[in-house]
Amino acid sequence: MGAIETSSNATLQGMNTMGVAVRARRLVTVKQLDAMERALDQVAADAPLLVLGGGSNILFRQDFDGTVLHIADQEIDVSPGNGGDLVTVAAGAEWDGFVRWSLAQGYAGLENLILIPGSVGAAPIQNIGAYGREVSEFIEAVDVIDRATRERRRLSPAECEFGYRDSIFKRERDRYIVIRVIFRLPRQHPLRTDYAGVQQWLDDHDIDDPRPADVAQAVESLRRSKLPDPADIGNTGSFFKNPIVSSSKAEAVRAAFPDAPVFPLDDEHAKLSAGWMIEHCGLKGTREGDAGFSAKHALVLVNHGEASGEQLWSMAQRAIDAVEGTFGIRLEPEPLVL
Ligand code: EPU
Repeated sequence: MGAIETSSNATLQGMNTMGVAVRARRLVTVKQLDAMERALDQVAADAPLLVLGGGSNILFRQDFDGTVLHIADQEIDVSPGNGGDLVTVAAGAEWDGFVRWSLAQGYAGLENLILIPGSVGAAPIQNIGAYGREVSEFIEAVDVIDRATRERRRLSPAECEFGYRDSIFKRERDRYIVIRVIFRLPRQHPLRTDYAGVQQWLDDHDIDDPRPADVAQAVESLRRSKLPDPADIGNTGSFFKNPIVSSSKAEAVRAAFPDAPVFPLDDEHAKLSAGWMIEHCGLKGTREGDAGFSAKHALVLVNHGEASGEQLWSMAQRAIDAVEGTFGIRLEPEPLVL
């Protein structure tokens, strides 16, 4: 039984990076993936089940009246392969630790994704991305348990339906439990240094022939300067997605607000900057009680200490309303709001 730990009326405050003091009716921690089926047998069929990884992409508005399942298995297994080794990682491994491990092993590809909070199992769910890279570019397959049938399945990237901060796991939230992610990690891979700030950092440090570890250092330094660290102040990174709008809508925004950043995606769509719009609405660095928007980055909703989930959500609503009123665009939360 040592592979599973269960507790009742468990606090989740240390299990969500927003630091909200909520409780779960039951918390089941699975230390070895072999025990997953046994753990699921303990979950009442009619009660809500939430699989919680690093808790870095969730806002709890209230207590969770059901079972929270936390996978703590962190095993990594490597098998050599063509075009890159196959690296199989259990869902409970910490993402940033895994990125650093991959760099230490001499793999390339994950360097732009350093310092993203959360677990490996959560990475495919929102298809984590930063500085021009998305994790889906290196995912070979995702091992899941189908919650309806309790069967284990291996999903291909196509079956995962990856998109910008999106996947099947986000769209059909109660269908699968991610238990392992299989990466194909090359030792040689073109670096991405074109995202704002990365090349500049390399130039400033006189690095003309960067290695993956140099890019990781550049990204780490940029993230530390721009994003508040959840270890210091509760947050879930970007609280809203950058809205993808029609090119004509983007042009209309540009005509009215010539400084607004617009990133064309294709002939018909462009991505706008939610952070810029929130800052333009005057909300950057503001707070109401302990809920606020970071003074470092307007897109980051922060908990200065004791904010409740409802207080944080009402602050988020202020940004949604302000941006909609000014730009006619409705921001969508990026984390799961429960
Ligand atoms: N901006 C402002 N004010 C701010 C912050 C940003 O005006 O307070 C404007 C600036 O013009 C800046 C632009 O927004 O040039 C873009 O800002 P940034 O480069 O920080 O990127 P972002 O679009 O705000 C996205 C991801 C981040 C990721 C960075 C870097 C989303 C929702 N967020 O943020 O991901 O780290 O790019 O690639 O796509 C996360 O998802 O939690 C996250 C942190």
